[in-house]
Amino acid sequence: MAYSLLIRNCGHLLTLTVSDANGPLAGPAQSNWRIIPDGYVACEQGQIVAVGPMPELDQALVTAATEVIEAAGRVVLPGLVECHTHLVFGGNRAHEFHRKLQGETYLDILASGGGILSTVRATRAATDEELLQQALRHLVDFRHYGVTTLEAKTGYGLDTDTELRLLRVAQEAGRRQPVRVVPSFLGAHVPGPEFRGQPREYLQMLVQDVLPRISPTEVPFVDIFCEEGAFSVADSRWYLEQARELGFRLKIHAEQLHDLGGCEMAAELGAVSIDHADYLAPAAAARIAARTNGRTVAVLLPLVPLFLRQEQYAPGRAFIDAGLPVAISTDFNPGSCPSKNLWLALQLACLKMGLTPAEAVAAVTLNAAWSIGQERECGSLEPGKRADLLVLDVPTLEEIPYWLGENPVREVIIGGQRI
Ligand code: NIG
Ligand code: FE
Repeated sequence: MAYSLLIRNCGHLLTLTVSDANGPLAGPAQSNWRIIPDGYVACEQGQIVAVGPMPELDQALVTAATEVIEAAGRVVLPGLVECHTHLVFGGNRAHEFHRKLQGETYLDILASGGGILSTVRATRAATDEELLQQALRHLVDFRHYGVTTLEAKTGYGLDTDTELRLLRVAQEAGRRQPVRVVPSFLGAHVPGPEFRGQPREYLQMLVQDVLPRISPTEVPFVDIFCEEGAFSVADSRWYLEQARELGFRLKIHAEQLHDLGGCEMAAELGAVSIDHADYLAPAAAARIAARTNGRTVAVLLPLVPLFLRQEQYAPGRAFIDAGLPVAISTDFNPGSCPSKNLWLALQLACLKMGLTPAEAVAAVTLNAAWSIGQERECGSLEPGKRADLLVLDVPTLEEIPYWLGENPVREVIIGGQRI
């Protein structure tokens, strides 16, 4: 036996492991995971097989057949897990940027028939090939930022055929390149244009016509946008209950622009993640953490308030102190975040939400993996997980959030292959 790949002399090896973990990293554990100074990672057949300090490396397993990556004192960590994107869409919304600068809000633009509905028109008009090529181009960009697993939502079709088409495109995009794509169904983004003013009827259509045609094995998550102008808490509850009944795991976009109670409702139903949460109060976060025993992950999206010119950012510090596990994502989409820079999202989570560098790194790796059911595959450096790794051009964890807006990635390895 010999190692097929060895990354050695890692200055800070960020393992993201803790001694007794059986859930997302919550409370003090979100920052108290293991960092190995001067470490190595060894892989075989696309999997991690050994991780440790350099003096413990078994030299007998390093042969002429071993590909060696010399980290030379740099930070090495798991590939980033991008746990909330709207990857597949037609067109873009650059034409709405100036409206926003003139003071129109996100919900004003949506109510006028723009926003999400404008992307729905462009998406319905696009061919599968156009949607696929655009998604593939975005995946190349994500990969350059070190993203090795990515969740991709539908939600710009809003009719049976187009929503199913978007799922197929997301799955095909996953097959055509190395980043692992995990699809989610967000047919309940807003009521489709054919159901204006009839949110419940639209959800009933999804439950009757669309959900039965989707396999929870291939598409594990059903998501909904609970917000004024989208779906009420009562309608969201009804829909998520139906989805759960059909075997799907649950997610919600909630407390993005108002405190309606969607996060607490979804957590009560056992949601895997509650996303946005900018208006979620710390007391409600504490109730969620207690009720779910720290299993539901709050996915925070700090680039969204920045891009929507909103002052309110999720109180991430208070969430972690309350025991709620936190993940961070870009929310990449054409309306509220056209950025794929997950490092910038991490940096803003430190600057605007009060996370420490160690908490923020856990939020884009292991906790993000938990929030999309990929915790057995990726998110930490431990034997048995897929060999998804990054070598960064910085020497310490502390420098990761410091170089604002830069991409620190030097080397991307997915499934043991250098990309
Ligand atoms: O997560 N908030 C709802 N949905 C997306 C934005 C979608 C869009 O504006 O196109 C989000 O921010
Ligand atoms: Fe989103």
